[in-house]
Formats: sequence, structure tokens, C-alpha cells
Amino acid sequence: MVENKYGKRMLKKARAQGWLSVETKAKFERIIQERQTDSHEELAEKLLKHQILTETQIEQLKGELKEETILHMEVTTRNSIFHVKDLHKSYKTPEGEFHALKGINLTIYQGEILGVLGFSGSGKSTLLNILGLLTTPDPVGEIYYNGTTYRELKPKQRDALRNKQFGFIFQESHLLAHLNAIENVALPLRLQNIPESECLERSKEMLRNFMTQGEKDKEKVFFSKKPAQLSGGQKQRLAAARAMVHQPQVIFADEPTGNLDFDTGQMVMDILLKAAREKDATVILVTHNPSQARRYCNRFVWMENGLLKGHLSTGMESTMRLIKQLSGKDVKIK
Ligand SMILES: Nc1ncnc2c1ncn2[C@@H]1O[C@H](COP(=O)(O)OP(=O)(O)OP(=O)(O)O)[C@@H](O)[C@H]1O
Ligand SMILES: [Mg+2]
Repeated sequence: MVENKYGKRMLKKARAQGWLSVETKAKFERIIQERQTDSHEELAEKLLKHQILTETQIEQLKGELKEETILHMEVTTRNSIFHVKDLHKSYKTPEGEFHALKGINLTIYQGEILGVLGFSGSGKSTLLNILGLLTTPDPVGEIYYNGTTYRELKPKQRDALRNKQFGFIFQESHLLAHLNAIENVALPLRLQNIPESECLERSKEMLRNFMTQGEKDKEKVFFSKKPAQLSGGQKQRLAAARAMVHQPQVIFADEPTGNLDFDTGQMVMDILLKAAREKDATVILVTHNPSQARRYCNRFVWMENGLLKGHLSTGMESTMRLIKQLSGKDVKIK
């Protein structure tokens, strides 16, 4: 007998909402069992007719199921780029070992924008830095990047991978004070020994994507400014251009707009993610901000106390409910 999967998913959701009594749950189950070939519309009609759910409730669940299906298809039809198995990280502290990651299992897909959410100290940056080859994990577990395990990389291979395939953007822009704007953007290209004139041309081209019209009108002036002469938003836009200039496969973004006002933050993120999508780059975005995650991410994970508490590949409303459930705190959505 073919299972009515859609009906079952809807039943599960209605139960999670607390909308079903013992009686209406039994009725719902009977409807699913009896009529295997019901269309989505027929199912909705029956739920309404038997007063199991209201029209508004049905509409909400239909919306959530549709959203989940789209997200699920988008994500699972892609190839995986990272495969993380039982990842641990301990830091040495004066009080002894501190276990910051306690066994993370996670798959990240090519081209997705993955949101990493969680409270301060939960291990988000540690996870990001290990995936980005900026920190080494404890010698248990395994990380595969495009099928290659990190464990087997020689130091030179690690450097080459990090410099060529990864782009980084952090909360602080980390620009070099003695270099001007365009030289800062060009750093990842220089690390690859690309000829200087090509470095500068490609950097200008990338940086223009992140400039306002006013800045473009006087681009020579903008290109030659040192970080100390730039605003916080301008510095972060340079950092975003630098993260993208070498067309990386993966962009690691750790609270990239944490220090910016809302509009500037949105501008940086909009351009960064548009550029990433055009190149089918994967973005791993650490954020404290659920509304930012909602706007940009295809999928979320929630970290708590060195562990992933939930893989949240669901619609945003249910994601927020799950976050609330997992963290015990209310999450505001803008
Ligand atoms: N170098 C270090 N030495 C010792 N402990 C560390 C070190 N780096 C991080 N930790 C600890 O590991 C835990 C996880 O830190 P991490 O920076 O990954 O958290 P986070 O989720 O990114 O937090 P935030 O949201 O505040 O940036 C914290 O308790 C932190 O104090
Ligand atoms: Mg952090």
C-alpha cells in the first residue's frame, strides 16, 4: 500500500502545534489510512469538513510543507562539499582542557548558504575556523572536503587549499593598515603569485561591485585610501570584496555585519551573497541574528555547548519554533 506521506507530514505538524485532540488525531489518522490516493486538495477539504483543522491552520501547514519541499529539494539535489564526522576540539586553559566542540556531525552542500546560529560561546567560530583550516581539531573524527580528508593534507596542501578555495570575512575587517584599499582586496591573489597588474585589475573589478555610485564616481580616490581613512561599512565592504576576489569555492563569514548598522549590513550581505550565488560558491554564515539568517540562508544549524542541537532544514516559522524549543528562549523575527 502506498503511504500518504503528505498527509503524515501534515499530521505531524498539526500535532506539534498542539492543534489536535485525541479524537481529532484519530480522525486524521483514519483519513490518511483510508484514502491512499487523495490529492492535497481533497485532504484539505476532508480535514475542514470533519472539523479537524480550521482553514487558517490548513493554509499555514500547506505553506510550511511547500517551503520545506522546495528547500529540501534545493539542498539535497546538490553534491556535498563538506562531510564532518565526530569533530572535537579542546583548548588548553589554565584550568585544564576546555572541550569546545564535543562531536559535531554535519554535511554541507555545494552552493548552499548555511546559517550557523547559537549563543555566544557555543562553538560557532571554532567550527568555522576548523573547516576553514585556520585551526586544527583534536585528532579524532574526520573532515572531508570534496572527498579528501583534512587529516591527510600536508602543510603546503593545506595552505594551497585555504588560499585558493576559501574566502574569509570576519566581524572585524582585518585589513592591513599599511596597504591601500585595492591592495588589501588583492591580497588573496597575491598569495597565489598572480602577476601584479592582473591582481590589481581583478581587485578593482570585484571591489566595484561593493561600491556606491558616489564612490565609483571618484574611484581612484577610493582605491587609494588606507583603512584608517575608511568608515566601518566601507572597511567591511573591502573585506567582502577580498573574500570574493579569488572566486573561492567556500566563503566563511563569521558575523560579517555584526559591527554595522542594519542598512549597511544588509548592503554588504546582499552583494556578497549575490556574488556567491553567481559563482555557485558555498557560504557558511555565522550569525546571532535570526532575521539575517531568515533572509539569506537555505538551511540552519543550531549550536549549543559544543554540539549541534538541530539541523533545521525546515520552513522559517517552524525553524524559529524549533530554535525556541531547543534554546528555551524566544527568538524575535524582524
Ligand atoms: N583559544 C582559546 N582558548 C581557550 N578557550 C577558547 C579559545 N577559543 C575559544 N574558546 C572557548 O571555546 C568556546 C567556544 O568559543 P567560540 O569562539 O567558538 O564561540 P562562538 O559560538 O563563536 O561565540 P561568539 O558568538 O561569542 O562569537 C568558548 O567557551 C570560548 O571561551
Ligand atoms: Mg564567534
